[in-house]
Amino acid sequence: MSKLTTASTFTDKLPAAFLEATRAIMPADLSMDDFIAACQRPLRPSLRVNTLKISVTDFLELAGGYQWELEPVPWCAEGFWINRNVQDDTRLGNALSHLAGLFYIQEASSMLPVTALFANDTQPVLVMDVAAAPGSKTTQIAALMKNQGGIIANEYSASRVKVLHANISRCGVSNTALTHFDGRVFGAALPETFDAILLDAPCSGEGVIRKDPDAMSNWSENSVTEIAATQRELIDSAFHALKPGGVLVYSTCTLNAQENQQVCQWLLDTYADAVEVESLAELFPDADKAVTPQGYLHVFPQVYDSEGFFVARFRKTDPVPRLPVPGYKVGRFPFSPLSRQDSAEIIKAAGLSGLVWPENQYTLWQRDKEIWIFPAVLEPVFGKVRFSRIGVRLAERFPKGFRWQHEAVVAFSVADSKNRFEINDELAQSWFRGVDIYPDDTPPADECLVTWLGQPLGLAKRIGSRIKNSLPRELVRDGAIRPQTLSND
Ligand SMILES: C[S@@+](CC[C@H](N)C(=O)[O-])C[C@H]1O[C@@H](n2cnc3c(N)ncnc32)[C@H](O)[C@@H]1O
Repeated sequence: MSKLTTASTFTDKLPAAFLEATRAIMPADLSMDDFIAACQRPLRPSLRVNTLKISVTDFLELAGGYQWELEPVPWCAEGFWINRNVQDDTRLGNALSHLAGLFYIQEASSMLPVTALFANDTQPVLVMDVAAAPGSKTTQIAALMKNQGGIIANEYSASRVKVLHANISRCGVSNTALTHFDGRVFGAALPETFDAILLDAPCSGEGVIRKDPDAMSNWSENSVTEIAATQRELIDSAFHALKPGGVLVYSTCTLNAQENQQVCQWLLDTYADAVEVESLAELFPDADKAVTPQGYLHVFPQVYDSEGFFVARFRKTDPVPRLPVPGYKVGRFPFSPLSRQDSAEIIKAAGLSGLVWPENQYTLWQRDKEIWIFPAVLEPVFGKVRFSRIGVRLAERFPKGFRWQHEAVVAFSVADSKNRFEINDELAQSWFRGVDIYPDDTPPADECLVTWLGQPLGLAKRIGSRIKNSLPRELVRDGAIRPQTLSND
């Protein structure tokens, strides 16, 4: 089959109105033919190193051992394309190093919005991620904040809140609270609260055809108009929730002007005296290839050989009139703070099991027998909205002590703890497959912190020569694979 026939078969599947609209907005230095050719090439897999768990230098050394060929993503110091020896995302997702949270599989252009949020040495303390699942950008934000300060990560879809939580937990993120609302509520519920807000908006997904050729099956001009109306309401709400002086990044993985430039223009027109665009022209050395006259990044797939993306950065220069206070009741906050003495006791007991955290950044709370650890900077918003989860579930209290929870072990275990027991690749593979393991040598304590490459996999009981698997059932991966097996054969 000739190239031409292939291209026309491909374009036959795309709505004519989409092709026409894209042709109309294609910048003069780019061509529609290159756009269509790029959309048909498989997407280069890429990952972002999770610096909450491993430094980029150490990760590169590890990946070198796996013979992964990594090419830096120019706009994200932790991002890399994987050029060789990895066939697909599924196998990468089952690699031990992924299950242990060392990296996040994230499309390269999707790393741009968070880079834009932290540009010009922006160091926010309180951040909102309005549309957060599955969590690629929440985990990227948490890593750049070094797990300090606080993030509210919101997601409208209930099933996606679960995936968001799983990713946050796998990556050892501890400074985040999750909410489950329509993002349009925050402007009224939490006015002028955040130093920085990311609105990675729901969109028509025109930029992701490369990964998912069916992405356009629900596309229509009407649906674009409807989504753009929602996006305007979401950006309005986000703008109200932003502190004066704060930064708002608006992003989509779509290409049309209605959902991108026009939503931004609506914000600029509506709050003309209170908002400024901050140009992204110098976000990274090659940014000029995608920058628009307004200073936004409009990434067509052929420009950086990536998915399509749009990113805009705004500064709120002045307050705007507040929205009416919401009439709904939030309900009673179900947690109570632990006393100083109780906290001190728990901190001591946790330390003996190898769990340590910066005490000035977190406070301990309880709900019945459960002990939770909450980022202290989020306390002022408790009671103002209902949370699905806050921080990390630390322990369950029993008459004779505490049962430390898996997510706390992943987030707070210290590498040099006395009860640490390092296992090899083969045992780690069995661990993630959910079975008990039988190491050749004996763990140092009855309750040991099982680690692989120094990363905590769980706190487990030794019973004779066996270590009882403590991985929560929902984290078991039958396909868990040792990294060396990620080859092309
Ligand atoms: C582009 S995706 C977000 C991707 C995410 N930021 C990441 O990087 O992993 C948009 C998300 O918005 C959610 N969503 C849809 N409508 C929403 C609304 N009204 N308010 C908040 N989130 C919404 C969708 O369920 C979807 O998970």
